[in-house]
Amino acid sequence: MNEYFNTNKKNWNERVGIHKKSRFYDVEGFIKGRSSLDRLELEELGDVKGKRLLHLQCHFGMSTLSLARLGAEVTGADFSDKAIELAKELTEQTGLKAEFVCSNVLELDEHLKGEYDIVFASYGVFCWINDLNRWFEIASYFLKPGGELVILDGHPTNHLFEYNEEKKEIEMIGPYFNNGPHRYVEDNTYTDGDEKLVNNVEYEWAHPVSEFINSAVKNGLRIKSFKEYPFMSWNRYPNMVKNDEGYWYLEGKDLPFTFSMKCVKEKFILTLLSDK
Ligand SMILES: C[S@@+](CC[C@H](N)C(=O)[O-])C[C@H]1O[C@@H](n2cnc3c(N)ncnc32)[C@H](O)[C@@H]1O
Repeated sequence: MNEYFNTNKKNWNERVGIHKKSRFYDVEGFIKGRSSLDRLELEELGDVKGKRLLHLQCHFGMSTLSLARLGAEVTGADFSDKAIELAKELTEQTGLKAEFVCSNVLELDEHLKGEYDIVFASYGVFCWINDLNRWFEIASYFLKPGGELVILDGHPTNHLFEYNEEKKEIEMIGPYFNNGPHRYVEDNTYTDGDEKLVNNVEYEWAHPVSEFINSAVKNGLRIKSFKEYPFMSWNRYPNMVKNDEGYWYLEGKDLPFTFSMKCVKEKFILTLLSDK
């Protein structure tokens, strides 16, 4: 597993420099006060003022710091040391209060202590995770009883489709249940700019909807809501169109591109070891 994570970490470390310069992330605008959180994230999170919030796979911390601006007491975690370095720089530059921890999310309990009101992660999170049950175990571990897990990401069915250059439309390629690792060689990152990645290999995993539900249930998390949306926050296929709000969708295709899930950590958990 280390080989996969080390490869992904090199890829993400290199992306940080490219993302920092991109219009997509607009770091200058963020420093001046722009929030990097979108409507869905804000709606799902609700009022964060005064809440202790742990942001998993926080990249270089813009959303973590945007949550600090809303009054949350924030900690961000990511396995990319370059991302954490930049997150700390941005914390200083903006004068906000935040803690950042560099760790593989699946081993975070070895690097961080504490209980949180909210554990949050969004957009581009779960494709990097081989063991979804362990991810939810970590999320549950850091939540106080009654605390909430809030996640948003590309919908699991996204992996079923690929853009066909000749037909100029998406087609179903499947599979749905084959979890991976899937090895991809991708020279470009998802932001603007022509800079090519040298560390262009990445390993990804696909997770069916049932795995999200079962991982929550197994780890003492009661599902409050599971929502699906026919648009997404990044441009996955060349034939996607941007709406006025900045979300991307496919005209005439009624497909789920994003999901959100909200869970609450049960106050009394009776876990049978044999269930795990
Ligand atoms: C697409 S970004 C998250 C996006 C975030 N919403 C943003 O735009 O700022 C995915 C993040 O996951 C991190 N990551 C990937 N695998 C990880 C792992 N096993 N442990 C911790 N972080 C990981 C990457 O370093 C990257 O910062």
